[in-house]
Amino acid sequence: MFVCLGNICRSPTAEGVFRALVEREGLSEAIGVDSAGLGDWHVGDAPDPRAQAAARRRGISLSGQRARTIRPEDFTAFDYVLAMDTRNHADLSHMCPPGEEHRLGLFLDFAPDAGRRDVPDPYYGDAHGFDLVLDLTEKAAQGLLAHIRENHL
Ligand code: 4NP
Repeated sequence: MFVCLGNICRSPTAEGVFRALVEREGLSEAIGVDSAGLGDWHVGDAPDPRAQAAARRRGISLSGQRARTIRPEDFTAFDYVLAMDTRNHADLSHMCPPGEEHRLGLFLDFAPDAGRRDVPDPYYGDAHGFDLVLDLTEKAAQGLLAHIRENHL
């Protein structure tokens, strides 16, 4: 479960990139993938057209996704609830049911060589920000899958 603020830019990108990787590796039956937001401004919306365009250029479609907010049951349904930045992580920590904190993490901790812990919010920026989201996400997706292989498969 990938979580950002609005669920229209960063976490849908992570969902799309990670799902494509999981499908490519033939692991769709074993690994469930979803995303959600902390805020409800965009609930029901498709991903931002700029995020869709940037992903499409790398062969990934985000068009079927619709924004939703994170729900209490997500903290027990998903083994990994991964925040796209440290602020999202802090917000998730406050919402997390007691005893489930081990599921929380920071997505970029699976890309230690990326040199940063936050996927910068591209919403108010230019198109370059969406390519950076994809670069960081592709790296961390590889690291996350390697981690899951080592620990769960
Ligand atoms: P995201 O980007 O968290 O990557 O989906 C944002 C999208 C919308 C807003 C903020 C961030 N917003 O304030 O509406």
